[in-house]
Amino acid sequence: MASGIKILAEAGHQLDQLDAALKTRADVLAQLGGAEAICTSLLDQVDAEFLDAAGPQLKIVANVAVGFNNIDLAECAARGITVTNTPDVLTDACADLTIGLLLMVTRRMGEAERFLRAGNRWRFSMNLMVGSSLAGKEFGIIGAGRIGKAVASRAKAFGMRIIYTGNHPMDAAEEQALQAEFVSLEELLGRAHVVSPHCPYNPSTHHLLSDEQFNMLTPGSYLINTARGLVVDEDALIRALESGQLAGAGLDVYANEPVVPQALLDREDVVLLPHIGSATLETRSMMSDLAASNVVEVLAGRPALTQVG
Ligand code: DGY
Repeated sequence: MASGIKILAEAGHQLDQLDAALKTRADVLAQLGGAEAICTSLLDQVDAEFLDAAGPQLKIVANVAVGFNNIDLAECAARGITVTNTPDVLTDACADLTIGLLLMVTRRMGEAERFLRAGNRWRFSMNLMVGSSLAGKEFGIIGAGRIGKAVASRAKAFGMRIIYTGNHPMDAAEEQALQAEFVSLEELLGRAHVVSPHCPYNPSTHHLLSDEQFNMLTPGSYLINTARGLVVDEDALIRALESGQLAGAGLDVYANEPVVPQALLDREDVVLLPHIGSATLETRSMMSDLAASNVVEVLAGRPALTQVG
């Protein structure tokens, strides 16, 4: 985005922008040679082949995303390449979108709007598009990092009770502020009306939610996923929707983006968004600025602002 580009230009760096329309893997690799810094998106698989194509002068890979599962950290570390991401600046936008999906799916907003736009005859009815209330229900968060906590505080504002699990329990003050209860994954799945993963994607979270986990849910629960598609076993998700174990799902991410399974596209009880968790003008500018600032710092020989690994 323009603001990050301005930061790089003002620091005197020569920029090569890849035309997104031409961005096949081969096109990208062909243009990397000689770069000292590369700003990547989550679509760029940064592996040995990618780094070889760039060359040994490469100093930093600045991922314009908070997630960095597209980057082989060990390979970068072995070559002395700094890797950075864009934490914090997108927390609110992603949390807002999670709650948007929560409201859309539990109140059947997507389905109701499609119904109205399709020209169906309607008038107020006690039975029209009846959804599920949130107040008093339990919202289960898997991974209470920045985004998980921001989602928790919003869900609490809707009167939901927060239960959560993950590798990093909140400190006592945070738990108290959110009135959040730390539970095991199994307990969370058995109790939550809505389950929402906010963990990073890595080998330990691959298909964290699969048939076994969906079968632990109270029938009629909901799943929201704004984290990474592969945290959820998409085939198992479809089975859980078909069996009624899940009453609905709100998804912003998919296993094989941009492919969305037809079985999901066909369902009225699923809300589908095209990975837009951080897509506000303000947030995308801040992400762009932070990635650019990381590049400026590292190329000046200073520590990165938000290094990962
Ligand atoms: C991220 O930052 O990881 C989001 O998924 C993309 O904005």
